[in-house]
Amino acid sequence: MRYVEAAGVRLSRIGIGTWQFGSVEWGYGADYSEQTATQIIERGLELGVNLIDTAELYGFGKSERILAPVLKEHRDEAFIATKVTPIVPFSPWVRSRGRASAKRLGVDHIDLYQVHAPNPTLPIGHIMGGMVDLVADGAVTHLGVSNYNLAQWKLSEQAAGIPVISNQVRLNLVDRGALKALAPYARAYDRIIIAYSPLAQGLLSGGYSAARLPKDRMRRANPLFLPENLEAARPLLATLERVAQRYGATSAQIALAWVISHDNVVAIPGASSVAQLEHNVAAADLALSPEDLAELGSAAVAFQPNTGVGTFPRRALAALR
Ligand SMILES: NC(=O)c1ccc[n+]([C@@H]2O[C@H](COP(=O)([O-])OP(=O)(O)OC[C@H]3O[C@@H](n4cnc5c(N)ncnc54)[C@H](OP(=O)(O)O)[C@@H]3O)[C@@H](O)[C@H]2O)c1
Repeated sequence: MRYVEAAGVRLSRIGIGTWQFGSVEWGYGADYSEQTATQIIERGLELGVNLIDTAELYGFGKSERILAPVLKEHRDEAFIATKVTPIVPFSPWVRSRGRASAKRLGVDHIDLYQVHAPNPTLPIGHIMGGMVDLVADGAVTHLGVSNYNLAQWKLSEQAAGIPVISNQVRLNLVDRGALKALAPYARAYDRIIIAYSPLAQGLLSGGYSAARLPKDRMRRANPLFLPENLEAARPLLATLERVAQRYGATSAQIALAWVISHDNVVAIPGASSVAQLEHNVAAADLALSPEDLAELGSAAVAFQPNTGVGTFPRRALAALR
């Protein structure tokens, strides 16, 4: 395992995302939540993963609860990151949400407490009062945000008066927006980008196509998995496969290696099995050549999925042509 050392912490380049734990929308069933989820974490820790990401929202607390027994046995090996849903982000409320998360996780402190997303109705700095109180209490060690743009990240840090060490954002070969301003900022200012959906929710594994659509509710609602987008993704998926062959790796491993090839970036793939987790961990040790990174970059730029935004004007223009 390779690690990123920044902002006073040391995080495994590949962590584990646990939205899947206890969440009906992924459709993995009871055995997954009752057994596989725990095995995934235990095996991950054994292989040197320390970053485990959850949220109070995942399975409405179930994901955090599933982690508790493993953390009881392996607390020192894990860097536990969870998130508050900023619905009513007043200080007493934030403090009580943080303590409730720690209780569900069975820990006396949360290593990284993140604001899940900006609340569009309140000033960015508002929630930081409660977050800072939790640090002062020792219930939380580090603060982070998620889905913040650069201006929002800076404002949250100004309001907190202490470092907001990480920003958890979507970053994968399809969605590269975080590389514009966020990743350079993290590199320059000793901060960390935690890349979520690093496999574009499994699209980049190459396991799905217009003829093999995912069956779960989660991805049936994701426009990336529309047949037309899966069709359009074929050249990118073919490039991933070609590069993967050069390394004796899988497409998913190459997609992860691309994400963590960027400085100060760690990835938190979810996994539906222990075997997937093992493959994902092994991707931490893949160093892609500059030529392969460039080839992946060009294929990524050429893939323009139709995500619904601006669909109508584009379709209307196409019809007029
Ligand atoms: N902060 C936020 O707003 C936010 C948003 C989304 C996610 N997250 C976090 O980020 C984590 C990861 O994101 P994500 O779950 O959305 O997407 P992801 O990690 O890109 O995709 C996970 C899915 O990809 C498939 N997969 C994983 N490893 C694989 C492998 N080696 N080979 C083939 N397929 C593989 C599995 O699905 P199948 O086997 O079923 O195909 C798995 O459930 C979440 O668990 C959560 O902790 C945070």
